[in-house]
Amino acid sequence: MIPKDCKRLAEVDFPIAEVSRHAAREKSIRHGHPSTLHLWWARRPLASSRAVLLALLWPDPCDPLCPTEFKAKTRELLPQVGGCNPGTTDKDLRKALLKFIADFANWDNAAQRTYLEVSRALVKAAHGPAGGSDGYEPPLVVDPFAGGGSIPLEALRLGCEAFASDLNPVACLILKVMLEDIPRHGPKLAEELRRVGAEIKQQAEKELADLYPKDPDGATPIAYLWARTVRCESPNCGAEIPLARSFWLCKKVKRRRALKHRVVRLAGEPPCVEFEVFEPKTEKDVAGGTVARAKATCVCCGVVLPPERVRSQLAAQRGGADVVFDGQGRRTGGARMLAVVLLKPGEMGRHYRLPVERDYEAVRKSQARVAKMLEEWKGGGEEGLCPVPNEPLPPIGTLGFRVQRYGMLQWGDLFTARQKVALVTHARLHLAAVDIDQTYAPIMSKMADTNSTVCTWQIDPPRLRATFTRQALPMTWDFAESCPFGDGAGSYELCAQALSEVVERQIRTEAGSAGQADAGDFPLPTGSVALYFTDPPYYDAIPYSDLSDFFFVWLKRTLPGHNLLRDPFDPTNGLSPKKREIVQDETKRDEGRPKDRAWFEDKMGLAFAEGRRVLHEDGIGVVVFAHKTTEGWEALLTGMIRGGWVITASWPIATELESRNRARESAALATSIHLVCRPRPDDAPTGDWAVVLRELPNRVGDWMERLQGEGVRGADLVFACIGPALEIFSRYAKVETADGREVALAEYLEKVWEVVGRSALAQVLGTAEAKARNGAAGAVEEDARLTALFLWTLQSTDGETADDANDEGEDEEPSDEDDDEEGSSRGKAKGFTLVFDVVRRFAQPLGIELPKWEGRVIETKKGVVRLLPIAERAKQLFGEDGAHAVASRLEQEAAVGTNPLQGMLFPDMRPSAAPAIRGRGRIRGTRGNIDVSDERLAAAPEATTLDRVHAAMLLQAGGRTNALRALLKAEQERGPDFLRLANAFSALYPRGSEEKRLIDAMLLAVPR
Ligand SMILES: C[S@@+](CC[C@H](N)C(=O)[O-])C[C@H]1O[C@@H](n2cnc3c(N)ncnc32)[C@H](O)[C@@H]1O
Ligand SMILES: [Zn+2]
Repeated sequence: MIPKDCKRLAEVDFPIAEVSRHAAREKSIRHGHPSTLHLWWARRPLASSRAVLLALLWPDPCDPLCPTEFKAKTRELLPQVGGCNPGTTDKDLRKALLKFIADFANWDNAAQRTYLEVSRALVKAAHGPAGGSDGYEPPLVVDPFAGGGSIPLEALRLGCEAFASDLNPVACLILKVMLEDIPRHGPKLAEELRRVGAEIKQQAEKELADLYPKDPDGATPIAYLWARTVRCESPNCGAEIPLARSFWLCKKVKRRRALKHRVVRLAGEPPCVEFEVFEPKTEKDVAGGTVARAKATCVCCGVVLPPERVRSQLAAQRGGADVVFDGQGRRTGGARMLAVVLLKPGEMGRHYRLPVERDYEAVRKSQARVAKMLEEWKGGGEEGLCPVPNEPLPPIGTLGFRVQRYGMLQWGDLFTARQKVALVTHARLHLAAVDIDQTYAPIMSKMADTNSTVCTWQIDPPRLRATFTRQALPMTWDFAESCPFGDGAGSYELCAQALSEVVERQIRTEAGSAGQADAGDFPLPTGSVALYFTDPPYYDAIPYSDLSDFFFVWLKRTLPGHNLLRDPFDPTNGLSPKKREIVQDETKRDEGRPKDRAWFEDKMGLAFAEGRRVLHEDGIGVVVFAHKTTEGWEALLTGMIRGGWVITASWPIATELESRNRARESAALATSIHLVCRPRPDDAPTGDWAVVLRELPNRVGDWMERLQGEGVRGADLVFACIGPALEIFSRYAKVETADGREVALAEYLEKVWEVVGRSALAQVLGTAEAKARNGAAGAVEEDARLTALFLWTLQSTDGETADDANDEGEDEEPSDEDDDEEGSSRGKAKGFTLVFDVVRRFAQPLGIELPKWEGRVIETKKGVVRLLPIAERAKQLFGEDGAHAVASRLEQEAAVGTNPLQGMLFPDMRPSAAPAIRGRGRIRGTRGNIDVSDERLAAAPEATTLDRVHAAMLLQAGGRTNALRALLKAEQERGPDFLRLANAFSALYPRGSEEKRLIDAMLLAVPR
């Protein structure tokens, strides 16, 4: 047993960089990975879960209290693993253990026998009874917010006992299958799954063949590509507008295919659009889509239908995914089939053709079948569940849900008639084949995920994309419908195969146990847990229960009467439990109280206290945090500390591959901070504020240095500093000032932000800036410090920022179906952005007054601060007449005076402005002249070093080389600040950004 006071490895060291690398890579592993068992939103990577678990389960060999058995066993076993040399000293041993942890985090090693055996044996050596006698009880690992189950699954891998729970029934079902059923059934389950898959495919094909007719030449449709339609409302037009984001079908080189359209005008009828499949040579050959951000453009007359009209027309068709036929079976409206994707016997690749009568006929038959199904159900007095999910979607405005405003109000509305028939048929066949055995249930979830009208067609490589590519249910204009017994995504056989691959690759472990529970009211006895490791929900980040209902409604039809598929807290609720879900969503209530921020924080506080209760006094905990605002941290940490926890270490681990522009521009956190915590002893002393404050800068300084060495940057680094800071603060029962006043956590955290901000400034600009308040000698001005801090915070972990601004994300669905114009990321103002809360935290203690720089350096809107791109500053700096007026004057006055710009900048603020000179320069991304901003400054400001650096960049942009040279020369004579700042910016501006390009080019012009 590890003595209580012996430090665990994770309390002294952790291989951050290596584990981050493996964790980030894990997302791209598909076949057989446990995360493919069933979709769950924001799963933790297994790599980081495994590594953190081991580092918590193992003691630090350098600790004098470390059990000798553990050290002896480590020396004996580690040499079995390549590269983990236990050396001779305790320090060597620690190093070797960390190396093992780092290597084992690699998915390729996760099922290797040696790694498994060594890790389990060492867990046993650490937790077994002294003397190594019998009666070993593996440590119990508990995760009360277990979701998709990464943490408990890894606990089983390491030979621990695991108890996983979640409030959500779909999560519980996943946990049951993963932690209980698969270990119990063993590999024979994989075979069984393949058998069932093949059998059901055959059965389904028999029953559904007429709904998915083959082509006369033997080609088989694998997907139908659809567009919802609206009518053009222009008085002389009235054409049907097929809503399509793009007319590409396949962008694969050598197999490029797209649709070409032409307008046909017949007398007395509205014009109509006809299509043809063709092989485009270049991007330009393909016409642009007809819809973007809910605005539809008529291909016949070019008139644009505004979002409200598109919404209202689609709402009248309940979303418009179904075809409207007349009495003769002719299509008169509704969804329009754009193309059919085929496989041809003996031929490679996918083929595309236009729809024919036969294709629509199948759809008509499907509609008739649905009508019959519903009639029978109604005729039977609506006994039992409606065959098609008629449960309501959450109300309009629910986080992440876009479809309701288009008239999709019941879960069944997300499916075409044919998809409804297919899913109902498969659920029946599934039930007949495997009864209500929950083990097979993930197959039906995958069927629903790949057979809804939220599925889209990906053009390169061409394939169907499932419903959930994001943590949301977005609106789709064009969508793809698959054939459920074909060879592509959406077929039952493939869904069963995906599950069997997970089973096959699953290593043999003991079974864990899973249950449904509220984390705030946990069903375990006090003091029973060795390790509490959890990744709680975060404010309004993901509407888990609403999203999960997509699966819930089909699962309850597939496993009728299953005890998990009901709301144990509210029998009248036909969907997953909502009331107790910890989420910030003001549209929901708990006991009459809206689920606002404060409610969320209260509930999390209760859950942390409950975690502390179930933990054994020798036990240890980890809570994963990935929050983007400092306020969120303050509240949740206060909850943890009040709940009786002490933070003893913290490790930021990257979990996202940071290559998205979104991440680059807005400093989205790429790491999750793992806070290691222990129960605070009842006799913890009272801390002295002065002592705490003295300790803080050194601890934070050392930590920043270490983390930067591991590639942690920017906002990730900021938040990662909270851990060590809290180690100092939380070890005390409370902290008091000399006059006996208790210091609140918020007050302490303010100091933490200040220390972090100063250290950052010291790094990028130098010590004068770090100490500076306003006007301090030797420091650049406030606006430069603000800009430098801003850019510093914006840096991303690993420095892997995207170079290509047009990077077409493969795994992130473009959100152009988003009709919320302001909220949309498209068309948003240019410039780098940070959350206001983060900027404010730094600014205040460093003497930067944000309001003073509004409109001049930054712009704050809706809680987001935007650093004004220099193109937008051009007008302030150079006035109406632009850079060229200033440039010409600079050239004329070349090298006279020591500060030539001082009198020239901000000309509009001065009484007499110079005459207009047309600009000839352009900055990429701005329209025409570089003067863009309409901002008027309140008072004529003095030009600061920042202004002059920006002015120089603008001269560079405008190609005013002579003026630039004159300026640079003068600046060199003037003093070092200009170059110091410019060099700092060159290091800070994101790679690939226009600013980076300009500043580097400008610096090249500096005379040497
Ligand atoms: C961040 S997720 C956990 C993800 C998990 N670590 C994984 O790898 O998949 C948080 C989970 O908390 C669950 N949850 C929300 N409120 C809860 C409550 N009151 N009790 C228990 N679980 C709850 C959600 O259903 C969600 O699955
Ligand atoms: Zn029109």
